[in-house]
Amino acid sequence: MENVLTTGAAALILGVSQARIRKLIKEGRLPSEKRGRDLLLQETDVQVFAKHGRKKIGRPTDNGCSCAMVAEDEGMYQTSNESIQTIGNGEIRLGDALNVLPSLPSNQFQMIIADPPYFQVLLEEQWDNTWHSSDEYLNWTLDWVRECKRVLKQDGLLYIFGQLGKREHVWLHTCSMLAKEMQFHDMIIWDRAVGYNERYDSFTPQYEMILVLRQTANAKPYFDKDAVRLPYDEDKIQSYLRDKRYKDKDARERHLRKGKYATNIVRIPSLKGSSKEKIGHPSQKPITLINQLISASTRKGDYVLDPFLGSGTTAAAAQELGRRWLGIESHPDYVKITRKRLSDIIAIPEFSLD
Ligand SMILES: C[S@@+](CC[C@H](N)C(=O)[O-])C[C@H]1O[C@@H](n2cnc3c(N)ncnc32)[C@H](O)[C@@H]1O
Repeated sequence: MENVLTTGAAALILGVSQARIRKLIKEGRLPSEKRGRDLLLQETDVQVFAKHGRKKIGRPTDNGCSCAMVAEDEGMYQTSNESIQTIGNGEIRLGDALNVLPSLPSNQFQMIIADPPYFQVLLEEQWDNTWHSSDEYLNWTLDWVRECKRVLKQDGLLYIFGQLGKREHVWLHTCSMLAKEMQFHDMIIWDRAVGYNERYDSFTPQYEMILVLRQTANAKPYFDKDAVRLPYDEDKIQSYLRDKRYKDKDARERHLRKGKYATNIVRIPSLKGSSKEKIGHPSQKPITLINQLISASTRKGDYVLDPFLGSGTTAAAAQELGRRWLGIESHPDYVKITRKRLSDIIAIPEFSLD
């Protein structure tokens, strides 16, 4: 067999779960060959199936979020890059980011939050283990980042999550590669408050990073530091007010009551398994963290994009904050989770709809 694929790779190409691929094989709709414990498929068979074996259907809408073209009989989806599509106020597109991004309008999004697969960190998740080498992963990263750059506004910011927890040097390479592609703007440390992945030969990792990029060196990104001030505690305010160097006590107090500027080390506990917020995604981010990023980087009514939506944290935060959003997610189960999550949010956008 030449150019063979595992069921995981075929699942990624077709944008369906591995279970769906196994079902298609069982039904005789996708030819395969058993090798040891693995089922292998010919790449050409998968491509033929991708072209002819799908059905397009319409776009159901509920709770203000339209999930693109889910074909009911196959659990498959079809995304279109034939024409640039306009986007709604809140929308999920089920599909591969690399297929969906080219269909989005250029220079549209004020902010992009990307929490991509990390590359072989979550070993049990098929979506984190599709690349055969770090170079392959880096090439893939470059492809979607270039598309993000195209759809990002000139004064917009692109936030990308990454971590070094298991010594994935690939994140370091990702950062240096992307700093050549766009302009480095900031590196936020998300201090998860508790350590993870126990290691005996080093300190326990406790943080993730968020690389922030802007379009060019001269670009002046929108950023509202006042929107994310942190309150001083009362004792601190009282002790500052005792400082004799400040003559105008009222002005000093008004200033202190505005709170202090947030730093680029953000301490927000990661979600425990037992957390009420947790809704069944292995790398769900705390909504407070995403809230903070969106509040500082967008105004009400701006467009926010998340190309790897997962459990919909970006969508939920954007909706709560009255921002328009678009999320892309390749796994139908996570789209379902997100739709349910959003149905619990009563969003009253404070911008006028056009
Ligand atoms: C790290 S998780 C995102 C978690 C998300 N930030 C949250 O709070 O739930 C990455 C997500 O990207 C999805 N994914 C992986 N490859 C994809 C692709 N090529 N296109 C779109 N989504 C993809 C995975 O299914 C997974 O849900």
